Amino acid sequence: MSNTSEAELIHMFKGILFTARSSPELLKSLDTFDAREDDVLLVSYPKSGTHWLAGVITKLYNAQVTLTSPIEFGDISKLEELNKLSSKRIIPTHLDYNMLPPNFKNKKCKMIYISRNPKDTAVSMYHYYRDNPNLPTIDTWTAFFDLFLKGDVVCGSWFDHFLSWEEHENDKNILFLFYEDMKKDLPKIVKEISLFLGLNVSDNDIQDICKKSSFSQMKSDTEKENSDPSHTVCALTSNRKLIFRKGAVGDWKNHFTPKQNRKFEEIFNEKMKLSKM
Ligand code: A3P
Repeated sequence: MSNTSEAELIHMFKGILFTARSSPELLKSLDTFDAREDDVLLVSYPKSGTHWLAGVITKLYNAQVTLTSPIEFGDISKLEELNKLSSKRIIPTHLDYNMLPPNFKNKKCKMIYISRNPKDTAVSMYHYYRDNPNLPTIDTWTAFFDLFLKGDVVCGSWFDHFLSWEEHENDKNILFLFYEDMKKDLPKIVKEISLFLGLNVSDNDIQDICKKSSFSQMKSDTEKENSDPSHTVCALTSNRKLIFRKGAVGDWKNHFTPKQNRKFEEIFNEKMKLSKM
């Protein structure tokens, strides 16, 4: 970061970088947040397909549900706002498992964790940083690559985030999904999500949801919407083009040099040595 105004865009809380959109007061109050048993949490490290999954889930529920902005986004009034919602809440979050309000864990709320190849996640996040004035300026891909590997980016280290959640992969209330599996066979994953959520959805409806959840359809739908950024899955931008960028698997190959790839693999293998991934 090169100047004070950029430094003001982010702050550190419990060793993790957050944007100024997450007030320290709100972060401190998360521990006392009152979860409801029927809350559904949509958990991800940024740029892993959160909007895609949110689109699928809201279409799966035929009844009235409210998709909120991430629980950690906003000021202290956010929690009160969530308390006041009378409908079922679908709550996104980028928090790691340890920072999650304990009430969600105690009440065994359903949680869906979506993960993506961290190389593609890094590339997606690089573009998001580069084009988003709410995030610090990034001069080059090389500079961002180093920050990503060190975990010096918003939401901290991809590795720590993934590992904190992977420890709970056998918890019955948590469903683990991969972006790449959604790309490969969306109807299969939509079916899996519907079973996990206890929803009875016909094969025809699943086909319809998949059609409406394609990258091109979602991109054109959201560009038509005039949404208030503080009430969307990503409260960091109202520019929907930043979110629906390319929607591809393997874009990292267009950015990583062979040397960067070797370095990434080395760190991946070291950090993930106890992981099943
Ligand atoms: P790219 O930047 O690689 O294109 P998030 O919602 O967690 O911020 O993730 C954003 C990433 O998901 C972006 O990746 C975006 O294009 C991709 N994405 C969003 N909707 C998608 C869809 N319907 N199908 C495939 N990818 C999608």
